[in-house]
Amino acid sequence: MKILGIETSCDECAAAIVEDGRHILSNVIMTQIPLHERYQGVVPEIASRAHIEWITGVVKRALFEAGIEPSSIEGVAATAMPGLIGSLAVGLSFAKALAWSMKLPFKGVNHMLAHLYAPQLIEPIDYPFLGLLVSGGHTILCRAEDFNRIEVLGRTIDDAAGEAFDKVAKYYGFGYPGGAAIDNLAEKGDEKAFKFPMPSLHKGEHRYDVSYSGLKTAVIYHLSSYLRPGAEVTPENIAASFRKTAIDILLSRLYRAVQDTGINTVVVGGGVAANAYLRRKLEVKQDLYVYFPPISLCGDNGAMVAGIAWHYFQRGETDIWNLAPNSRFADFKWHQEDG
Ligand code: KG4
Ligand code: ZN
Repeated sequence: MKILGIETSCDECAAAIVEDGRHILSNVIMTQIPLHERYQGVVPEIASRAHIEWITGVVKRALFEAGIEPSSIEGVAATAMPGLIGSLAVGLSFAKALAWSMKLPFKGVNHMLAHLYAPQLIEPIDYPFLGLLVSGGHTILCRAEDFNRIEVLGRTIDDAAGEAFDKVAKYYGFGYPGGAAIDNLAEKGDEKAFKFPMPSLHKGEHRYDVSYSGLKTAVIYHLSSYLRPGAEVTPENIAASFRKTAIDILLSRLYRAVQDTGINTVVVGGGVAANAYLRRKLEVKQDLYVYFPPISLCGDNGAMVAGIAWHYFQRGETDIWNLAPNSRFADFKWHQEDG
């Protein structure tokens, strides 16, 4: 079954054709980075306008690169939540209109569940596993029971992981978008140059939650007080030390969850999954089975949307035509898509 997947939740205008949940026939991603760079952040109104202008061309390109006619598409899916409401509305409306006019099944997909599915475009992974979802808008540690069923164990109580990278990069003028800019700079720096504070691990209900406000304050306002004797204040050293602490915060909660649940399969998804330090740290863990998406599938893309949608269609789950976009990730403990 060939599925068209559309992703417009933020600043990537993306469409892909994926067969049977796994075989990527095309994966077109048109980034809006140049449009938002001068503002050093995504401007929602600019984002949704660009999606409106680009979506038809991006979908046509996905069909062309897959080498198929529109009539070969057997299902259509789009990200319905969470994300920027105007941007979501463009891709979702386009997908619904196309599916309706072609009498095809349609499914609206949760962006974070799609990120968690991304590594399964490469190889199937047995459930349950622990999921670390780290993007620009969300930081979620979860236990995944199925492709559409996760238990949120912990989340950020302030900034998302990617957001912290973006804010530090913006403050120091390290480049846009901030996550990749800091990651690149950090490769040339000394991660021990600064000893930034780690937020303490909570007990009880919030034992897996993370926080970035303390680290952000330390890096931005009190930098020199964390400098180790003999170390130098350079962009590379700031980036390396910040990156280490920001990722170690995630890892401390993840390792705790591994210990508590006894689950030793870990799946990482979202833009921050591209982080070189995070990948290195987890890839050498002998006691864990760790799955990352390839770098090309870490950020927002249509393939993860088409891929996860196949599983819904296999179960006969489709959405109704008045499905509306939702800017928020559903805020309840067990998140289950109702179909
Ligand atoms: O998943 P994504 O593409 O979009 C959202 O759903 O938010 O994630 C984007 C986030 C941004 O905050 C970006 O700075 C961050 O992922 N990011 C990274 C890296 N590449 C992208 N953060 C750390 N290291 C990276 N290499
Ligand atoms: Zn994303």
